Amino acid sequence: MRKIKVMSVFGTRPEGIKMGPVVRALAEDDRFLSVVVSTGQHAEMLQQVLDVFAIRPDYDLKIMKPGQSLTAITMTTMSRLEPIVQKEKPDIVLVHGDTSSAYAAALTAFYNHVAIGHVEAGLRTWNKYSPYPEEMNRQMIDDLADLYFAPTATSAHNLRLSNHQQGITITGNTAIDALHYTINEDYHHDVLNEIDPHHRIILLTMHRRENWGMPMAETFKAIKHVVDQRPDLEVIYPVHLNPKVRDVANAILGNDPQFHLIDPLDVVDFHNLMSKSLLVMSDSGGVQEEAPALHKPVLVLRDTTERPEGVEAGTLKLVGNHYDEVAAQLTSLLDDPAEYQQMSQAQNPYGDGHASERILDAIASWAAAN
Ligand code: UD1
Ligand code: UDP
Repeated sequence: MRKIKVMSVFGTRPEGIKMGPVVRALAEDDRFLSVVVSTGQHAEMLQQVLDVFAIRPDYDLKIMKPGQSLTAITMTTMSRLEPIVQKEKPDIVLVHGDTSSAYAAALTAFYNHVAIGHVEAGLRTWNKYSPYPEEMNRQMIDDLADLYFAPTATSAHNLRLSNHQQGITITGNTAIDALHYTINEDYHHDVLNEIDPHHRIILLTMHRRENWGMPMAETFKAIKHVVDQRPDLEVIYPVHLNPKVRDVANAILGNDPQFHLIDPLDVVDFHNLMSKSLLVMSDSGGVQEEAPALHKPVLVLRDTTERPEGVEAGTLKLVGNHYDEVAAQLTSLLDDPAEYQQMSQAQNPYGDGHASERILDAIASWAAAN
């Protein structure tokens, strides 16, 4: 029987983490021939993920430039990907989520009459500029896609609201699949040697474009204010490699001994440190999916989220990026045991860790019918 040729294209850390289990499953399944393309939108931060999943891309477009623009990411990906699509002639291109790499790859596939499968389809804030540019990247990919792998019933419903009635499979989120590769009960990281074992750990990340500048500075000052009043707290902050983030983080938190500013962690380290933390503060998308599975409350440093399931379940609380609200919500979560208990005991709404299998089966059924 002819194998189904699947070309997976991704370029950033979160896409790598959530496509990792899919790429691994494709490689181990006789029904498929797997071709992997890295756009290289992220360099070091994607390499960490590829190493963890032992994935060696067949092609690397190596597009990353310091301070890259959205237009440059999109144009360079398209011009470098097109000859590869034309040479490989895949049956389907798989993209993930909402990055500019994913959008550019989907558009390239469409221009070359290649079918598109969208992993993590249908998430919505319905707000064009939040998250920016991710909300519109995701909507535009959904407009181009043929197969939709919706993580939840809510995302499937959003797809129908967007006039996509065919080709939808509810799969769960592959972020939960990834936890099977990473979580280890005996885990230890050197950063933990620097932390008093009796202290409580907050895990912090922040990188989104809409938070650059003042909002990020305000948020860091608010967290510093609350943490400095409580000597039993320490914050681990693996700082994104973007200089726009690093400069603000170092200026405000760099000299505070309660804050451990470290380089980005590989995903094994990050997941295990999350599972050892008291709580998480983050504007990340992926973290909002992982934390409920690990029973860690997340104060989401954004005004909107395309992941309302975690808010409804009770694990996530949107606290925005203004000083007063961030300080008040962190204080309340630290000082109110009932609130902490409620947030940490909520049910994970993002699936059972078998999303990749459902995605592969849906692709096989689609190929058999076409
Ligand atoms: C991108 C995605 C965002 C995702 C985030 C995950 C888009 C538009 N944005 O945003 O959706 O949440 O990745 O982290 O697709 N850099 C390095 N080394 C790296 C990675 C980044 O030095 O390994 C620096 C470079 O200077 C680069 C800058 O960070 O130009 C910004 O990277 P970019 O991918 O443009 O933006 P992110 O904020 O990472
Ligand atoms: N993550 C990681 N190392 C870090 C910080 C985050 O491996 O130092 C992981 C995290 O577990 C999640 C993903 O990276 O799976 C989230 O990536 P990011 O916040 O950069 O992007 P987003 O999810 O917001 O698009």
